[in-house]
Amino acid sequence: MVNFLIFGPPGSGKGTQSVRLAKKFNLMHLSTGDMLRAEIAAGTGLGKRMSSIMSKGELVPDEVVIEMIAAKIDSTRDKAGFLFDGFPRTVAQTEALGRMLSAREMKIDSMLVLDVDHDELVKRLILRAEQSGRPDDKDPAVIENRIDVYKAKTEPIIEYCRERGLYEPVNGVGTIDDIFERLSGLIKKYV
Ligand code: AP5
Ligand code: MG
Repeated sequence: MVNFLIFGPPGSGKGTQSVRLAKKFNLMHLSTGDMLRAEIAAGTGLGKRMSSIMSKGELVPDEVVIEMIAAKIDSTRDKAGFLFDGFPRTVAQTEALGRMLSAREMKIDSMLVLDVDHDELVKRLILRAEQSGRPDDKDPAVIENRIDVYKAKTEPIIEYCRERGLYEPVNGVGTIDDIFERLSGLIKKYV
């Protein structure tokens, strides 16, 4: 198994690229944001409890996403590895993922970090708000809060992974095809 984190601020293109990379390299794409939105769409108790946190652009509790990921890891079959998108989001989640993987004799092979400047992120998310129906895209103040939360709580994971030799920065500005080629080139080193 080869396992990757796709990393970057809100709007950096994690979801867009993950769908394509998962298909090309037969990876299981695990997006905690997508899983949480599916809970909300299905009207589950968990979805109801999480929706107000998400619509403010705050992080849901670590235990919630850690449990979701563990269940998905254990139910996945016939894949070359995992592509974690939007998870981990805190150092505590990163440590929990490390424990979860090592208990299954797996590890993270690389962290691919999409580098996109602030103005481009905001531009993309405002544009997406027109079609996505995501409440957290509708309000520019919530977009800014998501970027601030990323900087405060999520960005420290980069240093944690850099110290472990996993950090691979990628220019996240350009066409979707160009960025896909950049990411594919890095993943090819491992598969
Ligand atoms: P999540 O769903 O993970 O959202 P996010 O991190 O805010 O990121 P986005 O999905 O908005 O951006 P993306 O990087 O995937 O970019 P995309 O490809 O869509 O999380 C949502 C919420 O759930 C969180 O705020 C939190 O509340 C909760 N949550 C989720 N995971 C959690 C966790 N682990 N712990 C705690 N809470 C958690 O692209 C964005 C737009 O740009 C699209 O319209 C796309 O078409 C466009 N685009 C993409 N690439 C390009 C390009 N190269 N050029 C121009 N436009 C582009
Ligand atoms: Mg996404």
